[in-house]
Amino acid sequence: MNTLCRVSTLFTALAITISNYSMSDDECQPWIVNEKRNIISGQIICRYTLTSPDEVNSNTCTELANKYEITIEKFFFYNPDLDRDCKNIEPNTEYCVAGFIDQLLAKNGLCGPPHNNATCKGTRKQCCNSETWTCGDTFDDCREGTCYEGSCHGADEYAIDGKCGRQHGGLKCGGKWGSCCNNDGVCGNGSGFCGLGKCQSGLCEKRWLDGHSPDGTCGGNKNYVCNPVFGYCCGRAGQCGMEEEHCGEGCQEEFVKCD
Ligand SMILES: *[C@@H]1O[C@H](CO)[C@@H](O)[C@H](O)[C@H]1NC(C)=O
Ligand SMILES: *[C@@H]1O[C@H](CO)[C@@H](O)[C@H](O)[C@H]1NC(C)=O
Repeated sequence: MNTLCRVSTLFTALAITISNYSMSDDECQPWIVNEKRNIISGQIICRYTLTSPDEVNSNTCTELANKYEITIEKFFFYNPDLDRDCKNIEPNTEYCVAGFIDQLLAKNGLCGPPHNNATCKGTRKQCCNSETWTCGDTFDDCREGTCYEGSCHGADEYAIDGKCGRQHGGLKCGGKWGSCCNNDGVCGNGSGFCGLGKCQSGLCEKRWLDGHSPDGTCGGNKNYVCNPVFGYCCGRAGQCGMEEEHCGEGCQEEFVKCD
């Protein structure tokens, strides 16, 4: 594909994004949208394809990705039917190398998984309420723990079923479920969830009273908390710091903070 064509493809893709998917003429390649198929949310709309060669092997995916200068992850994202080892790639077949995900707009005010994952974003009421699967704009609709997606902290960040923490993809607690995630991966308020030794994330009780670390150690039987001198995170090994090994997995939130 020549550079001019490529630039215009990118430009068209941008124009489409900002002009609400109104299609424009394209001198490079026609749109590949099957009009007969019901477009559901999450479907990939392909903008450009490359044809695989006569002979293919497990390197062909990487070769096609390289040819269009995209990452192999992107390539698999655009071609979800391909196996990760690329062994099911077919010769002389078109594969997608540029496109975007269509997001169905919740035009009738119904959103989320029961409604083809339609989004409230861009509609008049911008929060998808996970109790009713309707778009709304009240405090409760948009609150963490209730809002599924839209103009809110959605279900990819806050638990909408009260299940949280390392057992549940690192989801946080908030809203009606309470502010703390306990060691069992359940959200709640009060000492059973926020208390020392019980809380894994959220508004956990801190050990402020046990004294600042004089030597960079934390937790353990001295219960020292971390501080700006050594870094705020108390890692799994009982050392204060600000690196991944301190603030990442295993961080002991009660000895000050983990993010
Ligand atoms: C909706 O999104 C969820 C989470 O991404 C996904 O698991 C599900 O298959 C989607 N449903 C539809 C109908 O697209
Ligand atoms: C936790 O406290 C918050 C704030 O007071 C409240 O809105 C929420 O309903 C409470 N949740 C539970 C499960 O107690």
